[in-house]
Amino acid sequence: MKRREAITSILTLGAGALATGSGIFKAEAREVQTTYKFSTYTPLTYNFDGLKGLDKDMLEQHYALYRGYVNNTNKAQSIMAEMLAAGKADTTEFSEVRRRLGFEYAGMRLHEYYFGMLKPEGSPVDEKLKRAVSAFWGSWENWIADITRTAMMRGIGWAILYYDPVTKGLQNFWIDDHENGNPPGFEPIFVLDVWEHAYIKQFGAGGRRAYIDALLKNVDWSVIAKRLP
Ligand SMILES: [Fe+2]
Repeated sequence: MKRREAITSILTLGAGALATGSGIFKAEAREVQTTYKFSTYTPLTYNFDGLKGLDKDMLEQHYALYRGYVNNTNKAQSIMAEMLAAGKADTTEFSEVRRRLGFEYAGMRLHEYYFGMLKPEGSPVDEKLKRAVSAFWGSWENWIADITRTAMMRGIGWAILYYDPVTKGLQNFWIDDHENGNPPGFEPIFVLDVWEHAYIKQFGAGGRRAYIDALLKNVDWSVIAKRLP
């Protein structure tokens, strides 16, 4: 079966189930077409040359994991479309694929924020960003200390500075895995991966702090500033 056919489901309603445009019930079967549309994502590309104190091979392995999240996001949506079309959506298997989609999609997106802020030897801290962060945290140094504290929490996940569109505040959050703990409606600004795969090859299992320090030396703060509304 072609994909286009697979994602299209034809439901046949019983006689008299729907009113016609004239308001008169039509005593005949009627077909209603339902189509599940999904987006196909393409991996973004990044150049890891010249990052100071960060192993290029480690970053390329990390990038390969990111591509896996993109592929699995596409795959999960394709499976869901086919199961919907086949009338298999009310199953445990479908629920598990839907649950998995949140993990894969968030993994894909967060890695794009993360890789997208890297630049060899970083950049000077953007003044607009510094002012915005300092307004909430008292000083830039206080925020750096807290995002580092957040990133050092036990567990696998992410330390993220979010912009809150309601209060205009900037708050650090810990995210478990990829999808657990993201505050709804907030915008990710600074996104730091602290899964062990992000550092263990170069820094060892106990090297998270050294990795964070090295990574902070390779952040393009102008990219972070542009993420502020
Ligand atoms: Fe990662």
